[in-house]
Amino acid sequence: MNQQAEPFLDEAKAREEAVTTHEPFAQVHVSRPHESAHLHVSGRATYTDDIPVVAGTLHAALGLSQKPHARIVAMDLAKVRATPGVVAVLTAEDIPGVNDCGPILHDDPVLADGVVQFVGQPMFIVVATSHDTARLAARRAEVQYEELPAVLTAQQARAANQSVLPPMKLARGEASTRAARAPHRHEGEMLLGGQEQFYLEGQIAYAVPKDDDGMHVWCSTQHPSEMQHLVAHVLGVHSHNVLVECRRMGGGFGGKESQSGIFACCAALAAWKLLCPVKLRPDRDDDMMITGKRHDFHYTYEVGYDDAGTIEGVSVDMTSRCGFSADLSGPVMTRAVCHFDNAYWLPDVSIAGFCGKTNTQSNTAFRGFGGPQGAFAIEYIMDDVARSLGLDSLDVRRRNLYGKTQNNETPYGQVIEDNVIHELMDELVETSGYRARRAAIREFNANNAVLKKGIAITPVKFGIAFNVTHFNQAGALVHIYTDGSVLVNHGGTEMGQGLNTKVAQVVAHELGIEFARVRVTATDTSKVANTSATAASTGSDLNGKAAQDAARQLRERLAALAATTYGKGEVSAADVRFENESVVVGETVVPFETLVSKAYLARVQLWSDGFYATPKLYWDQATLRGRPFYYYSYGAAVSEVVIDTLTGEMRVLRADALHDVGASLNPALDVGQVEGGFIQGMGWLTTEELWWKPDGKLMTHAPSTYKIPTVNDTPAEFNVKLFKNRNAEDSIHRSKAVGEPPLLLPFSVFFAIRDAVASVADYRFNPPMNAPATAEEILKGVRAVQAMARG
Ligand code: MTE
Ligand code: MOS
Repeated sequence: MNQQAEPFLDEAKAREEAVTTHEPFAQVHVSRPHESAHLHVSGRATYTDDIPVVAGTLHAALGLSQKPHARIVAMDLAKVRATPGVVAVLTAEDIPGVNDCGPILHDDPVLADGVVQFVGQPMFIVVATSHDTARLAARRAEVQYEELPAVLTAQQARAANQSVLPPMKLARGEASTRAARAPHRHEGEMLLGGQEQFYLEGQIAYAVPKDDDGMHVWCSTQHPSEMQHLVAHVLGVHSHNVLVECRRMGGGFGGKESQSGIFACCAALAAWKLLCPVKLRPDRDDDMMITGKRHDFHYTYEVGYDDAGTIEGVSVDMTSRCGFSADLSGPVMTRAVCHFDNAYWLPDVSIAGFCGKTNTQSNTAFRGFGGPQGAFAIEYIMDDVARSLGLDSLDVRRRNLYGKTQNNETPYGQVIEDNVIHELMDELVETSGYRARRAAIREFNANNAVLKKGIAITPVKFGIAFNVTHFNQAGALVHIYTDGSVLVNHGGTEMGQGLNTKVAQVVAHELGIEFARVRVTATDTSKVANTSATAASTGSDLNGKAAQDAARQLRERLAALAATTYGKGEVSAADVRFENESVVVGETVVPFETLVSKAYLARVQLWSDGFYATPKLYWDQATLRGRPFYYYSYGAAVSEVVIDTLTGEMRVLRADALHDVGASLNPALDVGQVEGGFIQGMGWLTTEELWWKPDGKLMTHAPSTYKIPTVNDTPAEFNVKLFKNRNAEDSIHRSKAVGEPPLLLPFSVFFAIRDAVASVADYRFNPPMNAPATAEEILKGVRAVQAMARG
């Protein structure tokens, strides 16, 4: 027993120290800094590459395919092996288990075996004494290819009927018939680009062989359990041999859900073969060449509507560029299908999805996970309808919103019970001064020939939960040490979003203690098993509830002891309160650690597990029907832009976002997520353009050619507010998920740009614009409407 703990064991002293007054005590619904903020800003936060390496650590690099689709006729690795410092070169033949790292289907080779399917596909692993030697040597391979026909774009895949999964179709009513009979009918086609996750910390894995066929892998991953399973399969061992650990990521954004797998597997394979610790850290260019991105989409659509812009029948046909393997393309398309409605009641609707197989990186999760791609299409259609009728697109959007008590069933059969989009949009229209600014912009455009302004408001409704029902579960482990300090472990991962902060707040609140008493450790597959990816924005919903469950069990055990010890038979355990670092038992107030020490001596278990499974969910993937979401998050944004019609340059002058996070667990973190999501989505829709050469090579594989937003691109005036609400469902402290939904808010930026472009011909034509609205695309749009105006 240490000396600090000792005094509290003296009951008389404890009573003396007891605090008799207390203040309302809340650790949730309060703003507080990210638990690692002080480490982030001082450079002391440990990322995977900062972990001190074990003596004898070797470094790996991957040898990449130079062809988009080819048979490997011969792979001469003699020069690679001969490079001084190279210890080993490994190929598919060296894999003792299964050569696959596919998260769902098994079509994802770790190392190409016989054929390559995209430029950048790993074919071999070089292991050397230094990182630079390994990279240099990897380029010395002499590979003979026999080229095969390559398909690069979604449309080419569609034309060739090449897909990674069967097509999907969800329909209600007779969309085409109704569109044909409606007073107005319109059809169109457009493209929406993909997006590189551009996490600041790149992919990395560090594998250290352990006793008796064990393997410890530190990996920057959103999905430690999946890494554990993949490594076990590749090595041909059981899951209990493999431990995967991740304290934090420098961003994931969906790019480290399945895509971290190949790096974990290659590092582990090399470590296994050589019985040496091996680190694999691809540089940025290789990372971008190897890993999948957000799916780009091609759409064709048809809509029928009345004079007021009410949609009667609408059909959309979406084709995604999946890359060479299935990866998460199926669930991504499912979410796109389930978000085509966005916030709108679409009485007769038909939604088709085709997952095109292409000879490119295998596309994957990215913030929103197909949701943004689905919702973007209906917003494009709303924009077309409004302009075709000469109406304010706000009015057309409002007219089509889901009702509160009727017209509230989604195409997939879920009834919306928590709709707040009407009041949310009303509030934003007011606070942003939308109407007056729209009028002022029309005035400005009438008087300016070169610079043109535009404005748009777009809503968001986003379903929260994994579409795959069984992923909606989580576990946690909470320890209370005898000095009253608390250690929490849960299945979620920290990627900057603040999950650990929120979980620690929940535990502190449950135990009535200060935040500083609670420490959250690295995610570790040996502590909480069979975890889901930290994805679908569900991190705090799931792990917050699981940690609360564990903390509540501990509190109940402590309360029972407190009632018998201090209650004199007059206070029941249920009436014992935990607040303000103390335990209140009737008139007696005991410091938290006093009770903890007592509990230890009384042999009360001071650690507990916790578990949570989201209720009310069911989903039938075959019919695309059910209740896939626990609840919905809502939001809306108004953006105002100015474009230069001679250069295509664009600036966002002002953006106002109002977003629903229910009763926020931590408003400061949530505002940060809304801001970050907005800027990231704005980048996707404006400057971030992925471009492949006709020979299949991705040319935008570094920040020099791939333009992510910087602080200079931030809207000159940027107002972000949280909507006053609480979750209608019993979520963790009635909060709502925040990670992904705000990424859809900057749809308003794209449509403000389109509004500015349309002004060139007095808003008479729908500019045929694709996303991203790069300077080039803006110029093309301007030229196109000018040509239309000339007739
Ligand atoms: N915020 C930061 N800072 N870094 C990230 O990588 N990823 C986003 C979002 N916000 C991300 C982020 C994505 S894609 C998801 S799904 C959620 O955070 C995951 O975390 P959560 O479920 O705890 O919100
Ligand atoms: Mo987020 S795309 O669900 O990791």
